[in-house]
Amino acid sequence: MQTFNDIASLRAEIHRQRLAGQRIAFVPTMGNLHAGHIKLVTEGLRHADRVVSSVFVNPTQFGPGEDFDNYPRTLPRDQEQLSAAGCHYLFAPPVEEMYPGDQAQWAKVVVTDITDRHCGAARPGHFDGVSTVVSKLFNIVKPDLALFGKKDYQQLAVIRRMTTALCFDVDIIGVDTVREANGLAMSSRNGYLSAQEKARAAALYQSLCRAREHILQGQRDYGAISQEAELTLAAAGFEPEYFSVCRQDTLAPATADDRHLVILAAARMGRARLIDNIDFSLS
Ligand code: PAF
Repeated sequence: MQTFNDIASLRAEIHRQRLAGQRIAFVPTMGNLHAGHIKLVTEGLRHADRVVSSVFVNPTQFGPGEDFDNYPRTLPRDQEQLSAAGCHYLFAPPVEEMYPGDQAQWAKVVVTDITDRHCGAARPGHFDGVSTVVSKLFNIVKPDLALFGKKDYQQLAVIRRMTTALCFDVDIIGVDTVREANGLAMSSRNGYLSAQEKARAAALYQSLCRAREHILQGQRDYGAISQEAELTLAAAGFEPEYFSVCRQDTLAPATADDRHLVILAAARMGRARLIDNIDFSLS
């Protein structure tokens, strides 16, 4: 695997590959890789001839008081894992390469509406930072397809919207969440949990599964389902942020008539803010 730290040399190599008729898949990450990221690379290899991954802890998607400074940076280990997974190119730029010059000269990509709720409401400006950096990365890599984990369900929806709205010629592929044996969704932020907290954090996925079960059995009072789940999460040691039954397409609260549902949840345990979700359809 070749590693690039600057835009120009990565572009030149990808241009060569494209001229040789190679199809390019792209897996953007912030590093501290786990099995969920590696699955994105493996899926990329199924769809393309060359896989490019990026490791960039993007400052513009962190709010004041969030964990930008402490976000785990593990580049040598990430390089080993990507290389072992068969990734061809790694782009690991310094911040000044992605955001050169004076902040007053920067541009921002804002996706409206779908960013208003859930993580968008809890983390103002977060999705502007994500859309901006992913737009830049798409313009640098110019991939045929890009892969994102479904664990960040709202992020995936925002990127799909952005790709359509800005006419990026990139296929967006959502890849299923990889879980620990106890059901906890793999996340770079799980590293903030103690062994005991990690065991208790399984309650997040369990409460999503229980809520789905209630709905599949015919319950349609989504407010009551959410309330019960938040109480269960609090009893397990979580500080629930939201637990919401939504429409898959808009992420707006679902009504009893909606068929394609996703339950989105966010909750804090100790130092970690964890998110998870479950999507399903009613017949
Ligand atoms: O999901 C992430 O790791 C980040 O939000 C992304 C998509 C790499 C943008 O920085």
